[in-house]
Amino acid sequence: MEQVAPAQDVQVATPPEYAAVGEHIGALVYFSSQSRNTARFVANCQLPDEGINVFRIPIKPHEAPLNVREPYVLMIPTYGGGSVRKAVLPQIRRFLNDPANRAGIRGVIASGNTNFGESFCLAGDIVARKCQVPLIYYFELMGTKEDEQKVRKGLVDFFHNHPE
Ligand SMILES: Cc1cc2nc3c(=O)[nH]c(=O)nc-3n(C[C@H](O)[C@H](O)[C@H](O)COP(=O)(O)O)c2cc1C
Repeated sequence: MEQVAPAQDVQVATPPEYAAVGEHIGALVYFSSQSRNTARFVANCQLPDEGINVFRIPIKPHEAPLNVREPYVLMIPTYGGGSVRKAVLPQIRRFLNDPANRAGIRGVIASGNTNFGESFCLAGDIVARKCQVPLIYYFELMGTKEDEQKVRKGLVDFFHNHPE
């Protein structure tokens, strides 16, 4: 009788937005809306120079979905203005709803605006709890120079402690 091959992940890994230079140690996946605060922060961290691939979750529904097939830290801004249900944007939920994407998450970095009080960086808590990974860091808006240095060094240390 003809053998039926087991179902496989046929989706091809999306190339990084910015590829690691030199020895590859890990990856960062981020989302940033049209206001681009998180995108600017990521660019300022210069993560590819540390061997970290950078992937961006698409903003528009018609864009090809992002397929990440390596371990990564997820960096996400909080939305929803205090609503727990809306704190994690649909684009981020769509990315994480793919089991092959979700399999690679190792930690979360969240951003937000302290004006939102108790819901500051809430998206990070929600995803960390749901995916059972640590919330590694949080920062406000585009972050500061100190945030950039801490994230850059923190990610290098994190990937050295989580080699895969
Ligand atoms: C409609 C709206 C709702 C927001 N809700 C929250 C919130 O509940 N908690 C929070 O910490 N920040 C909240 N923020 C602030 C964003 O997380 C912050 O502006 C972030 O830097 C946006 O990143 P981006 O420009 O990369 O999308 C909200 C911003 C907007 C525009």
